Amino acid sequence: MVRVLVLHGPNLNLLGTREQSIYGSTTLEAIDAAISELADELGVAVDIRQSNIEGELVTWIQDARTGYQGIIINPAAYTHTSIAIRDAIAAVNVPAVEVHLSNIHQREEFRHRSYIAGVALAQIAGFGPTGYTLALRGLSEHIAKQGTTAGTARLKQARRPKRRAP
Ligand code: DQA
Repeated sequence: MVRVLVLHGPNLNLLGTREQSIYGSTTLEAIDAAISELADELGVAVDIRQSNIEGELVTWIQDARTGYQGIIINPAAYTHTSIAIRDAIAAVNVPAVEVHLSNIHQREEFRHRSYIAGVALAQIAGFGPTGYTLALRGLSEHIAKQGTTAGTARLKQARRPKRRAP
């Protein structure tokens, strides 16, 4: 079964009460429930975690090397500061989708730069909680395609006639 790791960064545990005019009133619990519901529908297993600590997010990304085919991450404020999270994503060779509830490009200038985007498969920003389910749909399609390509490559390799020694 395809496994996807979903990571929420700092302050996202406060969703529902935090700056509602920007982030809305949906709680993180409700977002996680919607992700899990879609995952069941798609036949994907998801592990969902939140941390306010940069190093903890880095360790979880590193751990995704074994057993996970994809990562969905809202690095929150670390998006704009964390070379460590960027390096971890680049290191693990697991496709990662960056999600933001708000459209970071329309907000303060310091939010326009993402250290993550350059190593992410895709970035989704501005759709609110829907961004997470869009990310899961896109990522699982990407993983399925990759699996098919890898499978086809293996088949071709296996069918290739063996060279005889001269
Ligand atoms: C955020 C945008 C970031 O700039 C901010 O620091 C967050 C949330 C978003 O989901 O819109 O905490 O990642």
